[in-house]
Amino acid sequence: MKRIHFNEVVTRDGFQSEPTFIPTDEKIALIDELGQCGFSKIEATSFTSARAIPMLRDAEEVMRRIRRSSDVEYSVLVPNVRGAERALKSRADELNLVMSVSETHNLANLRMSREKSLADLRDVIALAAGHVPVNISLSTSFGCPMEGEIPLDEVLRWADRYASLGVRGLTICDTTGMAHPIQVARMAEALIARFSDLQLTLHFHNTRGMGLANVLAAVQAGIDRFDGSLGGLGGCPYAPGATGNICSEDAIHMLQAMGYDTGINLSQLMAAARKMPRIVGHEVPGQVAKAGHSTELHPPQHQ
Ligand code: COA
Ligand code: ZN
Repeated sequence: MKRIHFNEVVTRDGFQSEPTFIPTDEKIALIDELGQCGFSKIEATSFTSARAIPMLRDAEEVMRRIRRSSDVEYSVLVPNVRGAERALKSRADELNLVMSVSETHNLANLRMSREKSLADLRDVIALAAGHVPVNISLSTSFGCPMEGEIPLDEVLRWADRYASLGVRGLTICDTTGMAHPIQVARMAEALIARFSDLQLTLHFHNTRGMGLANVLAAVQAGIDRFDGSLGGLGGCPYAPGATGNICSEDAIHMLQAMGYDTGINLSQLMAAARKMPRIVGHEVPGQVAKAGHSTELHPPQHQ
């Protein structure tokens, strides 16, 4: 049975664009619960400016108070050297750096050109060297809502530049749900051919309902790591029309039904997912937590 790894991003990508502040205790309780579900990684929070992402202004406290499971890597998003210093002090297991392969989106999200991002992130990678591994997430790799399609070669060019700086992993992100399965298969094949020595992760959003189809296309092309968000929460605050990440429990349910080993205790994960509407104060898009596992049997209904 092929092993597929999941990185749970709900408390970072999921929470960052929620309008109402989620109390620190709730975040910690959720991360602790997710830590028992079998994830390879949890992206717990981000060390960004509190003005840019007020929801995650409690990053230090969250990292200090979570109960860490020894099987899980606790990753954090870091936009700059200042964020990296905070993350290292907080004993994050991995730094996840972010840059957009679209110049327009990078200017909107990080307020700098891609070249400036690369120059700054080079310093972050140097700071982390010998301490923790670094992952680079390349946003809008399957298309930018402002610029349109980004050529595959352009994505690979940026990936190459980061690979040569010594990152451990590469996450290719469909920030606004523009990817379709054939494009995903093409991307996956190119990544595997070129970066087989890196940890390769795909990050999809379900904005146009293509999320799980894209996961399947990627798995069939040989990708074995995905980001997912509990309940399907999430969306970049700097990308017009962005909506939820692929829903972790829906994707995991699909892959388990097909016979893949995800390492996840799905019942436990669904129990956590059912708390999401209360935590965020509204319905969430995930479907399996509402419908139940496909193998659950129901008594016949009589009129
Ligand atoms: N942690 C805490 N504070 C930070 C910080 C960090 N990593 N980086 C910058 N700041 C603070 C600065 O100290 C400054 O504070 P001040 O106004 O009190 O002096 C303020 O933020 C602005 O700093 P500046 O260097 O001018 O940066 P900026 O305003 O251009 O912001 C980013 C740059 C990238 C730090 C900021 O836009 C950001 O955090 N964006 C979030 C990106 C993100 O996570 N997007 C979603 C994920 S894809
Ligand atoms: Zn995302």
